[in-house]
Amino acid sequence: MAVTAPSTIDDAFRKRFARSAELYQRSREAIAGGITHDSRNFAPFPIYIERADGSRKWDADGNELLDHWMGHGALILGHSHPQVTAAVAEQVHKGTHYGACHELEVAWAEQIKRLVPSAEWVRFTMSGTEATMLAMRDARAFTGREKIIRFAGHFHGWHDYAMAGYQPPFDTPTSTGVPKPVAETMLVAYPNNIDSVRELLDAHPGEVAAIILEPAGGSNGIIPPSIAFLRELRQLTTERNVVLIFDEVITGFRYAPGGAQQLYGVTPDVTTLAKIVAGGLPGGAVVGKRAILDVQTFKGELHHDRFDRVLQQGTFNANPMSAAAGLTALQLVGEGWVTEQANQAGEQLRGALRDVFEKRGVAGVVLGEASVFQVLLGEGMEEAVETTDVQRLMAGRGAVNTLRKAMLLNGVDLMRSGGFTSIVHGDEEIGRTVAAFDQSLEMLQREGLA
Ligand SMILES: Cc1ncc(COP(=O)(O)O)c(C=O)c1O
Repeated sequence: MAVTAPSTIDDAFRKRFARSAELYQRSREAIAGGITHDSRNFAPFPIYIERADGSRKWDADGNELLDHWMGHGALILGHSHPQVTAAVAEQVHKGTHYGACHELEVAWAEQIKRLVPSAEWVRFTMSGTEATMLAMRDARAFTGREKIIRFAGHFHGWHDYAMAGYQPPFDTPTSTGVPKPVAETMLVAYPNNIDSVRELLDAHPGEVAAIILEPAGGSNGIIPPSIAFLRELRQLTTERNVVLIFDEVITGFRYAPGGAQQLYGVTPDVTTLAKIVAGGLPGGAVVGKRAILDVQTFKGELHHDRFDRVLQQGTFNANPMSAAAGLTALQLVGEGWVTEQANQAGEQLRGALRDVFEKRGVAGVVLGEASVFQVLLGEGMEEAVETTDVQRLMAGRGAVNTLRKAMLLNGVDLMRSGGFTSIVHGDEEIGRTVAAFDQSLEMLQREGLA
C-alpha cells in the first residue's frame, strides 16, 4: 500500500501549535467529538485561543494571529471594542438576568427598527439558528401552509428544517437524525434561477408558506447572488402571497447599516438577524412586518392564545448583557462609518488577493462583497461563478484546508476559505494578510498542492 509522505506544512503545523494538540487530546476525553462547533473540525487538530484584542488573537502556544474569523462575523468592531466592553462591564454589575422585561431590550429593538428597512417589529432569540427556526414557524402560522422553499447551498443554521438542501447531494439532509416528514416540508430551489422557484410553486399550489435565502449569496457569498434574481423573487412572492425571508444573520449591519436589503434595495417581509446584532455576545432576532410577527402576540382570548398563536420562549432571550453589547454596537453602526470602513478594507483585500493569484499563476477565485472575502481554489472557478455551479463552488471551498494551515503558520487565521474585515483591519493588517497569502501559496506550490 502506498503511504503518502507527511507534508512539511503538516509537520510545521504540529510543531508550531503543539500546545493546541495537547488541549485537543484532552478535549476528546471531555467533549463529544472534541469540538463545540462543526466548523472547528480541522485536521490534524484545531487551534486553541487564549485571548484576543482588536484584530489579533493569541493562541495557547503564544502565537500571535491576525484574525479574519472575527467571531464568525459577529465582530465588525473588532475584539473587545472599548465601548462595547465598557457597556458590558457596566451591565454585569447591574445584573446579568432579570427574568423580566427591561428598558435596554426596548432601546435595542428601537435601534434595530431604525436601521433595518423591513423591521416594523422585532422579536429576540438567542442565535441565528433560533431566528430562522422562528421565522419559519411565524410564516407557517401566518399563512396556514407548511412548505418552505430554500436554496441549494444556502446556510440557515443547524435546526432540522435547515438541514434539507444545504450541502450536496441536496435531496439528502446534511445531518442524520432529521425526521423524513420534517425534511419533506422543505423544497430545494436553485440559486439565481427564478424558473426553479416558479416550478416548485406551481407543483405545490397553495402549500408554500415562505421562501428563505441568504440575499448576498449562499454560504456567505460562496454562491454569488444576482440582484435581478432578488427583484424577481420579491415580485413572485408578492404575486403568490408567499412570505419572503431574508436570512441576514451575516449580512445584517455588515453590507450596509440596514444590511443587504438596504444595499440592494429589495425589502423582504421578514428578516433573520444574529451575530453583529448582539455586539459580539449571544443573540439573534426575527424582524419584519407587524401583521406577520403578530402571530406571536397574546390577545387575551383563551381560544386564540392556545390554538392560533406561535409560542416562543428562551431563558436568555434579550438578556441585559446581550442587550447592552448589541445596543452599543448598533449605535456605532448607525453612525454609518463602521460598515463603510469595513467594506473598504474588504475591497482592498479582495483586490490584493486576486493580484497574488495572478502573480503566482495559481487557479482560483476571490469572491465576496462588502466586508466578506472568500478564496476558492481549483480550475474553472470563474466558470462555476458564471453558471452558479453550486456543487463546484462548494467543492472549491472544501479544497482550502491546507491553505488555512499554511496561513496559520504565516500568522493569519482565516475562517475556513476566507473571512471578514472589520474596522480594525487597516492597511497594516491587509498588508500582513496579503503577504501571508503569498507565502502560503508558495508553500502549497512547493508541495505540489497548488
Ligand atoms: C446565514 C446564516 N444563517 C444562520 C446562521 C446560524 O446562526 P447561529 O450560528 O447564530 O446559530 C448562520 C451562522 O453562521 C448564518 O451564516
